[in-house]
Amino acid sequence: MRVTKKKLLFVASEAAPFIATGGLAEVVGSLSKALAKTKRYDVRVILPLYEDIRQDYRAKFEYLGNFNVNLSWRKVYCGVFRYVLDGVTYYFVDNEHYFKRHGLYGHFDDGERFAFFGKAVLDTMGFVDFYPDIMHCHDWQAAPALLYLKTEYCHYVNYRLIRALFTIHNIEYQGKYDLGLLENLFGISRDYINYLEYGGAINLMKGAIELSDSFSTVSPSYAQEIKYEYYAHGLHPIIRRNGHKLCGILNGIDIDYYNPATDKALFANYSAEDLANKAICKQELQKMLNLPVNAHTPILAMITRLVAHKGLDLVKAVMEEALQDDVQLVVLGTGEWEYEQYFKYLAGKYPDKVAAKIEFNSDLSRKIYSGADLFLMPSKSEPCGLSQMIASRYGTVAIVRETGGLKDSITPYGVGGNGFTFANYNAHDMLYVLREALKVYRKGEEWSKLAFKAATTDFSWSKSANEYETLYNSILK
Ligand code: GLC
Repeated sequence: MRVTKKKLLFVASEAAPFIATGGLAEVVGSLSKALAKTKRYDVRVILPLYEDIRQDYRAKFEYLGNFNVNLSWRKVYCGVFRYVLDGVTYYFVDNEHYFKRHGLYGHFDDGERFAFFGKAVLDTMGFVDFYPDIMHCHDWQAAPALLYLKTEYCHYVNYRLIRALFTIHNIEYQGKYDLGLLENLFGISRDYINYLEYGGAINLMKGAIELSDSFSTVSPSYAQEIKYEYYAHGLHPIIRRNGHKLCGILNGIDIDYYNPATDKALFANYSAEDLANKAICKQELQKMLNLPVNAHTPILAMITRLVAHKGLDLVKAVMEEALQDDVQLVVLGTGEWEYEQYFKYLAGKYPDKVAAKIEFNSDLSRKIYSGADLFLMPSKSEPCGLSQMIASRYGTVAIVRETGGLKDSITPYGVGGNGFTFANYNAHDMLYVLREALKVYRKGEEWSKLAFKAATTDFSWSKSANEYETLYNSILK
């Protein structure tokens, strides 16, 4: 018997491997692939055709045609390209005025760029004749597509039955614009102002939460946290009011893509069952970073965007104290000037202990995940976080603050868990668990067991993809 597949369209502003600036891209790329693999979904993903999309892929995109999109009083060109990868059909919408520039976000006209993208998403459905059962929108850049569906297109017969799910990957970025732009730029009638207005401005994320059939976040803990002011960046009243249609599903990682047994970036390959070659990875990493080569000195790693909510204030407060111990610190990432300077300063002051690479470098990140012993992620807030899972998969033990997805993926060593955790956002609590971790490291045998535990924790998509299926089914009921 042939079962008809459910039709699923992901709307997102980035997806690996085509274009990635953060965890969002990895999740869009790997979750869509995991769902397509079930054979129960026809999964398609739609993205803007940015200038920065990888050339090796772009050269292979198939041009399908073009049409005009009505954006308020403007008529705007929209080209559509297609590419199929891992059973997932990708569409790329083209408009050079909006997307032929370097950098994905942070342009003065981002509101207009993603309004265009939202309209283009809905018109592309008609153009390629694919009307999904579920349109799954990720983060504020995909909110306009949901808003246009619910305020305008749902009145057309083909769009009437499309259900919309909105996933918050980070509530900090909401897409806020001047109220005066509602009709003139977004082309949304003032009749809907109550859904979109918040704090005197248009708030795209708020509108998407209000008008979605259901909304979710990327971990169960974060779904609870954003009901509170401390985490919600102002949206807690909206989250609470819509709490009945909120759920949290923990992200997974692509365990084939992140596999120490086959990863070509590594100095030597190894598996969870036999971590012996990790010693080679460590030795070569120390050489490469000009750190003293010593198998017994633990390497503590951080791979992160250097921004405040990653908990860098805690690091600044106690790292020099921590470095009094026999430990090496390796940092990789870019971000705010203050933190970039701090890590450069630290590396300058302790050249035998600290290596700081202020760059985005995926090859080096894998060398660090595999060569380090400990991975530090003391975030103030963390919707999910993927690095702690990747580190664990490479047998590198995570030290995290108990927040969001960190809390849901890393459990404390003291109760038989796979890493180390601390509850309060407090520098000396962090220092305390770091020192506890170093004590266990020096116990050798005990450490090997813990590294094995970390490396064998199931971070694959299998469980979470099931939870998304359950959620999709409940929305379609
Ligand atoms: C955002 C969040 C991060 C999460 C990722 C993927 O980047 O900050 O915590 O892991 O999205 O959902």
